[in-house]
Amino acid sequence: MALSNFLTELDALLDEATDAFAAACDAAALEAARVQFVGAKSGRLKAVQKGLGKVDKADRPAAGKRFNEVKQAIESAHQAVVERLASASRPAATARCVDPTVPGDCCRLGRLHPITQTIEELKEIMGRLGFSVVDGPEVEDQWHNFEALNIPPDHPACNPLENFYLDQGSAGGERQGDKETRRQGEIAATASSLSPPLPVSLSPCLPVSPSFLLRSQTSTVQIRAMERMRPPVRIISCGRVYRPDTADATHYPMFHQIEGLLVDRGVTMADLKSTLRLFARSAFADDVHIRFRPSFFPFTEPSVEVDMSWADGWIEMGGAGMVDPNVLRAVGYDPEEFTGFAFGLGIERICARRHGIADIRELFKNDVRFLHQF
Ligand code: PHE
Repeated sequence: MALSNFLTELDALLDEATDAFAAACDAAALEAARVQFVGAKSGRLKAVQKGLGKVDKADRPAAGKRFNEVKQAIESAHQAVVERLASASRPAATARCVDPTVPGDCCRLGRLHPITQTIEELKEIMGRLGFSVVDGPEVEDQWHNFEALNIPPDHPACNPLENFYLDQGSAGGERQGDKETRRQGEIAATASSLSPPLPVSLSPCLPVSPSFLLRSQTSTVQIRAMERMRPPVRIISCGRVYRPDTADATHYPMFHQIEGLLVDRGVTMADLKSTLRLFARSAFADDVHIRFRPSFFPFTEPSVEVDMSWADGWIEMGGAGMVDPNVLRAVGYDPEEFTGFAFGLGIERICARRHGIADIRELFKNDVRFLHQF
């Protein structure tokens, strides 16, 4: 056989084999093509190899060399397709495959607690009326919680049953009978069963003294502010207060108050009422009504309960009045020169009324399904 015929046959086989491998779409098709071209028994390369012996003797080395080259070329063409199919069947680690029909991952953003949101807004409203924000401690002494507020030590408001004294055993200097001890135990049990528990027992880092208590009102900050400032004083303070009340839909042993205080020359009840009306209109709506009922607080004279009504019945919001001259004297102000008004409103009530929350205990369960609504 002429060398050229042999070489032509070899080249044609290489082309055909390369095309057949490239056309294989899966491992089974590739294997069939491999057997067809380079199968050990009946592969077509084997058949062509038989022709080698018929090539003229002088041309045989050249024919053999070319035969080996073609064999190798066919094998590497096969190997290339083996690798291509293997990588296609691997999970697409690097391939970007986006399925636009898959629902997206919802990324839930955190938000401020509704009480915090209410406080921020109330501060903003009172800020527009010229009141600046001051803070006071939650652990208070008897002077700021009672005495300077014209509440003498034997006043019922100082009773250990009405307050969270930090040193319960000797609170108020009174010896406690069995009944009181039992009641204190009940209070402590209530406080610790709440989530988060209230700190009724003395924490090691707090000063050990029977005269310390968790403040029962933010009126303490009136005293702290007046001790530091000279009139005109125009402040608000928002924060937590603590009373051993049984938790129900409208009470909780820890709650929040907003305290307001204005002391200057010539301040009257009319200023108090117009300030509270402006406050209520901004906090609720323009058509909110406000009502004063006569009341008593040792630190104001006269004193009133403040009710507000907006689209439904009256809601008790807190207390207010003209700062008692004894309080002004306690901080070194001359009551002949200065007068003032003060108010203390419940923030939970404001928050609950605005959002239609029927039970304020919901605010402290920390259930994100509830909190996420605000
Ligand atoms: N401190 C009073 C209370 O907690 C509210 C109050 C504040 C009343 C200021 C008069 C003036 O009930």
